[in-house]
Amino acid sequence: MKSDFIELSSSRFSVRRFSDKKVEQEKIDIILRAGQVAPTACNNQPQKIYVLQSAEALKTLQRCKYSNFGETLAFLICYDSSLCWIREFDGKPSGEIDAAIVATHMMLEAWELGIGSTWIMHFIPDAVKIEFNLSENIIPVCILVMGYPAQEAAPSVLHSRKKDLKDIVTIL
Ligand SMILES: Cc1cc2nc3c(=O)[nH]c(=O)nc-3n(C[C@H](O)[C@H](O)[C@H](O)COP(=O)(O)O)c2cc1C
Repeated sequence: MKSDFIELSSSRFSVRRFSDKKVEQEKIDIILRAGQVAPTACNNQPQKIYVLQSAEALKTLQRCKYSNFGETLAFLICYDSSLCWIREFDGKPSGEIDAAIVATHMMLEAWELGIGSTWIMHFIPDAVKIEFNLSENIIPVCILVMGYPAQEAAPSVLHSRKKDLKDIVTIL
């Protein structure tokens, strides 16, 4: 059976080389809408999304991470720890999960629009908090660097390395 979603999600790969072409505001708005409609625990919507598109903001971002793929756009995806749901049995907050779902929606929507991205977790959270003047309750979860893929952009070897379903699924 054909699934448009499987086609979209399996064709997506982490783009680590971007062209200079800027992402149009109309597309940025659609990507943000994808982050807005993402499900969050109890629908608390604790996500806080920073759109980094000026040369100055991207330069500031570069002081917080090691990789540089020549991105023309980045989203810093955070959550507000004072807004997220907290499970009463063990105090586990939903914020990281909420923000990760938001980022996934945005990453896939971007790909549907022909825009590549890479999820960056390898950043310095304390540097992000200082550089972007985030208040105590705003917790950075990931950076999505984005842009139109450069001509030479290609999937890394890790992209196609998928475990067998039998190694990740348990049927009871
Ligand atoms: C939670 C998470 C953290 C990641 N952090 C980084 C990172 O800091 N730098 C990077 O280049 N890629 C990062 N990636 C991208 C993964 O390496 C990549 O998704 C994985 O190797 C599969 O390749 P694909 O995205 O091309 O399918 C991260 C992905 C996830 C989901």
